[in-house]
Amino acid sequence: MTSRFPLTRLRRLRESQALRRMSAETSVSVSDFVYPLFATHGRGVREPVEPMPGVYQMSPDQLAEESMEVSELGIPAVLLFGLPASKDAVGSEAYDPEGIVQQAIQSIKQAAPGLAVMTDVCLCEYTDHGHCGVLTGGRVDNDATLELLARTAVSHVEAGADVVAPSAMMDGQVGAIRRALDSAGRSDTPIMAYSAKYASAFFGPFRVAADSAPQFGDRRGYQMDPANARQALHEMELDLQEGADILMVKPALAYLDVMARARRRFTQPIAAYNVSGEYSMLKAAAANGWLDGDAAAMEALTAIKRAGADIVITYHAKEAARLLANGR
Ligand code: PBG
Ligand code: ZN
Repeated sequence: MTSRFPLTRLRRLRESQALRRMSAETSVSVSDFVYPLFATHGRGVREPVEPMPGVYQMSPDQLAEESMEVSELGIPAVLLFGLPASKDAVGSEAYDPEGIVQQAIQSIKQAAPGLAVMTDVCLCEYTDHGHCGVLTGGRVDNDATLELLARTAVSHVEAGADVVAPSAMMDGQVGAIRRALDSAGRSDTPIMAYSAKYASAFFGPFRVAADSAPQFGDRRGYQMDPANARQALHEMELDLQEGADILMVKPALAYLDVMARARRRFTQPIAAYNVSGEYSMLKAAAANGWLDGDAAAMEALTAIKRAGADIVITYHAKEAARLLANGR
């Protein structure tokens, strides 16, 4: 960097839209997006999620219509969550072949065969205590949970899921799922590991959407401490050793440093989860007229890509796809 003003004028390449587009270091593409969907029992159900404007709990028939729209917008994948008919101590509906997610997968695959269906593999939506694993003596029992997560993943794949995404933050969960899938003859199914998943207040609105708030305590005994970044790399390293195909950093915006470090360290695809609270904050501010919601969403998505994400899981996917199609 030897040249000096007035020889160097960085504004030269900022003058026109064409030059800005040409010289942009990062771009956001609809091909990067994964759109989260919430499946609920019934027919014709499209229940708004209050803190997340534009997000709904939908019955399988509605998800079929939704997935056609998502697919037509060019979004390559959805990530499915489920609201069971009933909850119990061991989260039985999570691995029920007739469970809500299993039904939703079939309905989506039938309506939009080209859309990749990813499924969240966890127990918190299905347990009556709301924790991500089964309890032994009031504590989340890591090893007893592994078998149930593995069963859940296999049942999703048997229903037609293309990718499974374990999010329970149990040690060894990726390995347990990889072995179970392989034994079930599904060695070609990829695993997207929620590797660096933090115990975050930004999941608040999701817990309304998925009815998955813990009924006692919190998730700090298994999800990561927001103070840690080196440990995120350790989590990712372990998940790779256990057979993960895609690594994830979650949440996204408050953890872009973690994303950037992970990007430098690993060659594998990395996903960022632009979580519910990040979406709700932006929507709430936009609804108050306090910022331009479309511009803020595109800026946030650009920042996530700039930090190094290959894949962006975001509730903004549909609106961003439309903005991108209109040259934004
Ligand atoms: C389930 C799960 C959660 C999210 C994704 N999978 C919630 C949690 O861990 O409490 C959060 C997603 C979001 O906030 O958008 N374990
Ligand atoms: Zn969970």
